[in-house]
Amino acid sequence: MTVTIRHAESDDYDRVISNVDAWWGGRQMAGMLPRLFFTYFRPWTFVAVHEDSIVGFLAGFQSQTDPRQVYCHFIGVDPGWRGRGVGEALYQRLFVEATSRGCHEVYAVTAPTNRGSIAFHTRMGFASLPGPCFEIQIPYSPDYDGPGEDRVRFRKPLLDRSGRLRSIAD
Ligand SMILES: CC(C)(COP(=O)(O)OP(=O)(O)OC[C@H]1O[C@@H](n2cnc3c(N)ncnc32)[C@H](O)[C@@H]1OP(=O)(O)O)[C@@H](O)C(=O)NCCC(=O)NCCS
Repeated sequence: MTVTIRHAESDDYDRVISNVDAWWGGRQMAGMLPRLFFTYFRPWTFVAVHEDSIVGFLAGFQSQTDPRQVYCHFIGVDPGWRGRGVGEALYQRLFVEATSRGCHEVYAVTAPTNRGSIAFHTRMGFASLPGPCFEIQIPYSPDYDGPGEDRVRFRKPLLDRSGRLRSIAD
């Protein structure tokens, strides 16, 4: 079954936002994904499409503070499509976009309770940044995104020390 990764179109937002809470297991996530990612950040927002269906998406942006950095705000895959490489394909597409635009590293955060996301990001080559607390052997920062909103912070370098592109598994 073929899945294509492409840049998001503004219209894709309506199809994505109606699924976000369900894809996050019922967590109220939709309020954290405004349409602006599908309009003003289209170079960094991708959808995974099978036939006419959106089966995954990644919403990111390039840092305005340090243009070498890219941040992945959301990545989500339809539960019926998980474990088939869709999430990896979305990140691979982001890594290609980032390197082609001269960016060197990708950042993301996730809740320390989201073990699936932690395992996935580790598999994608992200390393956790230091934090004052530990959960399941991984450091996290309490109240990072406001009271009670603890986060594991992840970073993935895209270049090795000699400035060459790393492979995804590095
Ligand atoms: C996390 C998520 C995006 C992964 O998408 P996916 O399409 O299932 O991931 P892939 O199939 O591309 O998996 C890539 C690798 O990560 C691993 N992985 C993915 N999800 C995993 C999980 N829940 N537990 C352990 N490993 C996992 C896979 O085993 C695979 O490793 P492999 O190549 O060694 O087999 C998806 O589970 C999801 O949408 N979760 C809910 C939303 C969420 O929490 N997003 C992240 C925070 S924004």
